[in-house]
Amino acid sequence: MPPSPLEALRQACLTPPEQPTETWLRSAGQQTMDAMVDDYVHQGEEPVGHTTNRAEMESLLREPPPEAGMAFDQLLADFRAKVVGHSYRVSHPRFLAFIPGAPTFASILGDCLASEINLFAGVWKEAVGAAQVELVVLDWFKQFLGYPAFAAGLLTSGGSEANLTALVVAREGIPHEEHGRLVLYASEHRHWSVDRGAKIIGLCPAQIHPVECDASFRMRADSLRGAVANDRRAGRRPWLVLASAGTTNTGSVDPLRELAEFCAAENLWLHVDAAYGWPMVLTASGRQVLDGIDRADSITLDPHKWFAQPFEAGGLLVRDGARLETTFRMRPEYMQDVVPAADEVNFCDRGIALTRRFRAMKIWFSIKLLGIAWFRRLIEHGCALARYAQGLVDQAGCFEITSPCRLSIVCFRFLPGQPMAPNRIDELQQEIAEELFRSGLAFLSTTRLNGRSTLRLCFVNGRTTATDVENVVRALVEIGTRLGENA
Ligand SMILES: Cc1ncc(COP(=O)(O)O)c(C=O)c1O
Repeated sequence: MPPSPLEALRQACLTPPEQPTETWLRSAGQQTMDAMVDDYVHQGEEPVGHTTNRAEMESLLREPPPEAGMAFDQLLADFRAKVVGHSYRVSHPRFLAFIPGAPTFASILGDCLASEINLFAGVWKEAVGAAQVELVVLDWFKQFLGYPAFAAGLLTSGGSEANLTALVVAREGIPHEEHGRLVLYASEHRHWSVDRGAKIIGLCPAQIHPVECDASFRMRADSLRGAVANDRRAGRRPWLVLASAGTTNTGSVDPLRELAEFCAAENLWLHVDAAYGWPMVLTASGRQVLDGIDRADSITLDPHKWFAQPFEAGGLLVRDGARLETTFRMRPEYMQDVVPAADEVNFCDRGIALTRRFRAMKIWFSIKLLGIAWFRRLIEHGCALARYAQGLVDQAGCFEITSPCRLSIVCFRFLPGQPMAPNRIDELQQEIAEELFRSGLAFLSTTRLNGRSTLRLCFVNGRTTATDVENVVRALVEIGTRLGENA
C-alpha cells in the first residue's frame, strides 16, 4: 500500500537539510577566530591594501553559484587571498582617508555574538534584552551630549540613514501642501548625504540653501540670518538648519550655540550632523568645541566613525523624543501580537527599518569591557596625531596648510619648488595621493578647499602611532618632490 498523503509529507520533512556536526562547528569556529586574531594583530605590519582592475577581479571571483559546498579551509584561504588581498583596510593604522573606521577587538567580538544570537531588535516583545541594551546605550549617548531624559533615539546603519530619518521627523506635522515651500539651510561643507536625504523626502535642489562659510569653514550665522529673512519675504517657508559638528572636509564645527539661539527665535528645526565629531564631547576641551550641541532638535552620531565600532553603527537622537514614534509608528494587523506596553519600546516604531540587527550589542560590549576612559583616550589620541601631523608638515617646508588641525583632520598642499600653473598644482596633489595609495604605505584622500585641491589626513584609529605619521609625511615629501620635479 502506498503511504497516505499525510504520511508521505511526514517522510518528506523527517530529515532536514544536512547540518554541520558540533566537531565541525568547533573547528571552523576556532579557525575563523584564529584568522581574525592574526589579522587584527598583524594588520599594521602589512600594506594598507592592494588593488587591481575589474578584469582581474572577474577572473578571480566570477563563477556560477556552486551546487555543492567546498572545504572550509580552502574557502577561508580564498577569502584571505582573493577578497581581503584585493581590498584596502579601513581599520589599518595608516588608512587616513575620508573618515576611517577602526573597531576595537571588543566591539568586533560583540558584533560576532550579535550575529550568532541574531536577536530581532525591531520589537520589544521578541527580545527585551536587545531593546533594553539599545535604550541604555542611547541613554549613555544622551548623557555625553547633555541631552534631556525625554530625548529618544535609535541606532541606524550609519549617518546617511540618521540624517534622512531626522529630515522625516522634522517635517512631520507640516501640511503636505506646504512641503514645496520648505527651505533647508546647510553650509557649503555639509555632508552630501543631506542632499540625498532631502531628495528622498521629495525636496527639489532649489529647496536647499547652501550657506556661506567663514575662513574657518564654519557656517556664517549672519549669512544664514540674511537668507532666512529673504526667503520669508519671498513667501518661502524656512524650515530646518542643518549644522555640522565636524565637517568631513576639514573637521570644522559650525557655531552651534549661536545657531541654536537663532533657530529657537525663528522657530526653525536645528539638526546637527555630528556623525564624525560627536565623541569630542567625551573630553573637556571637546565639550567647548561642541558647545551648544545640547540645544539641537536632533543629532546624528556615528559610532562606526570615531567610536571604534565595526560598520554599521550610526545613530540619531531627537530632543523631543516622542516625535520619533509620532512619525514612524504603524500598527498593521500582522503585528498585533507585539504591540508594546506604555513603558516598552518597539525600535521599528522609531525609524525606517522593521527587521533590525542587534547593533547596540557591539557598542554596549565594548564600553562595558574597556570603559569610557579608553574611548576618551581614543579621542585625545586622534587630536594629538592630527596636531603632530600638522607640526611635521609645517617643519618639512614644502607644504602649505590649507586647513589647520580641527578635531582630528588636517589639510595641506604640496608646493613644488618650481613655478607651476595652479591647475597643475591641483593635479599634483591628486597624483601624490594616488602614488601613496598604490604604494600601500598609506591611504589618504584629497578634497577641494576654496576651489583648490588639497591633501587631507583624518585620524580616528586607536592604533595609529607617531611613527606612522612620520612615515606618511616623509613619503609625501619624497613623492611630492619627485613628481614636482618631473611635472
Ligand atoms: C559628517 C558626516 N555626515 C554623514 C556621513 C554619512 O555617514 P555614513 O557614511 O555612515 O552613512 C558622513 C560620512 O563620512 C560624514 O562624515
